[in-house]
Amino acid sequence: MKYLSILTSLVGVALGARPFLDVADTGLEDYLVGSGNWTEGTLPSLQDMRALPDFEFSAKQVLADEDWAFYRLAAGQEWGYRNNFDVWGKVQLRPRFMTNVVNLQDNIGIELFGYNFSAPFFIAPAAQAGYAHPRGELNLAEAAGDENLLYNAALFATKTIEEIDEVKRGDTWNGRQVIFQQIYTNNNLSITWNDLDRAKKTGAGAIVLTIDTPGNSVRVRGARYSGQDYWEIFDEVRSRTDLPIILKGIATVQDALEAVERGADGIYISNHGGRQLEFSPSPIEVAYEIYRNAPEIFQKVPVLADSGVRTGSDVLKLLALGVKAVGLGRPFMFANVYGYEGIIKAIRLLKNEIIQDGWNLGIGSLEDLEPSFLNLNTLAQNVNLLDN
Ligand SMILES: Cc1cc2nc3c(=O)[nH]c(=O)nc-3n(C[C@H](O)[C@H](O)[C@H](O)COP(=O)(O)O)c2cc1C
Ligand SMILES: *[C@@H]1O[C@H](CO)[C@@H](O)[C@H](O)[C@H]1NC(C)=O
Ligand SMILES: *[C@@H]1O[C@H](CO)[C@@H](O)[C@H](O)[C@H]1NC(C)=O
Ligand SMILES: *[C@@H]1O[C@H](CO)[C@@H](O)[C@H](O)[C@H]1NC(C)=O
Repeated sequence: MKYLSILTSLVGVALGARPFLDVADTGLEDYLVGSGNWTEGTLPSLQDMRALPDFEFSAKQVLADEDWAFYRLAAGQEWGYRNNFDVWGKVQLRPRFMTNVVNLQDNIGIELFGYNFSAPFFIAPAAQAGYAHPRGELNLAEAAGDENLLYNAALFATKTIEEIDEVKRGDTWNGRQVIFQQIYTNNNLSITWNDLDRAKKTGAGAIVLTIDTPGNSVRVRGARYSGQDYWEIFDEVRSRTDLPIILKGIATVQDALEAVERGADGIYISNHGGRQLEFSPSPIEVAYEIYRNAPEIFQKVPVLADSGVRTGSDVLKLLALGVKAVGLGRPFMFANVYGYEGIIKAIRLLKNEIIQDGWNLGIGSLEDLEPSFLNLNTLAQNVNLLDN
């Protein structure tokens, strides 16, 4: 017995110390090498992309080192970045069988602020799509439009708000594709008010105000503006636009509660893909903290979330806790090395995974999802409870 338990603990250590795979191994590289007609450093064919991590492999082959580094980078020693992926393994699924799942394929759409979208995921705002493709953000907007997906454009884009507006598809949502516009506040607030006007003029459906970067003076200088705190800036932005405002970068239940109390129309859980504060929590940890302390938030406002989402089951896990829509940043940036077709393929792969995993989980629509589909015991060990 004694030896057995020593052995068991050694195995545990070995498993715990398994190397972190920077890109999930989908078998792509083995396949390409085995095919005998792929050369390292060249773009694999689009038809060989079978899951979202494949696009990361492809992008690494062809992007300039500096551009690859910008897309892939994360903060510090990248603990937060790794945790965004490792955390999924702490939440097992609890499938129910013999349930009615036949209509799931027609029931994966969502509604946000009166706009209907075809899937519960969206393209998160990420700067500089032009590094991957000369048409940059235009590919993202067009593919999202054709797939009826939400595109959340970044302020720091390689195309202007107006250029992106020009390619919006005209035949959806009563005549016009709707995108959401991300903004950072500028030290010179007249620039920010101008950004809001431009978003409004081009028909943005909502403003996504990113709040998790006060430490980056190149970006959000707002936190230092005239000694104002960020909530005062939010109040000012609130008073300047009648568009719904979603606060992006929520990492605690306290900030979620304050955001809702101050009139945010939506909140967006994110650790910026691990790019800002290294030891900030993954989205499912934050969603769980909110669920345990203030579950009413999920009813009061739509809750969005991103960081580390790569598969259909990742999406389903966040939705089961009450998240309405889930964003992906890097995968779409990487898919853009194939241009428009790459984005379309990435969207369809993830839609298909959601449907297949949803069938196997035993749901007939997204409304069927609830926390009991998850084993949350491991997350419970870590959760902060407000009342103790
Ligand atoms: C290259 C890159 C640029 C980004 N630029 C922005 C930005 O300008 N504004 C913003 O709010 N978030 C930005 N983000 C964060 C994304 O919106 C999103 O939170 C993050 O990518 C999600 O993590 P994921 O890449 O693991 O999906 C950026 C992310 C990446 C990868
Ligand atoms: C070799 O490359 C061609 C052209 O890219 C492709 O159509 C074919 O499927 C590849 N062969 C294998 C075995 O992968
Ligand atoms: C959105 O979908 C709902 C039901 O799925 C429908 O009743 C509503 O009319 C749709 N709204 C728009 C603007 O298309
Ligand atoms: C703020 O931005 C506006 C608009 O670009 C510009 O006219 C003004 O000079 C700027 N103010 C300062 C103090 O830089």
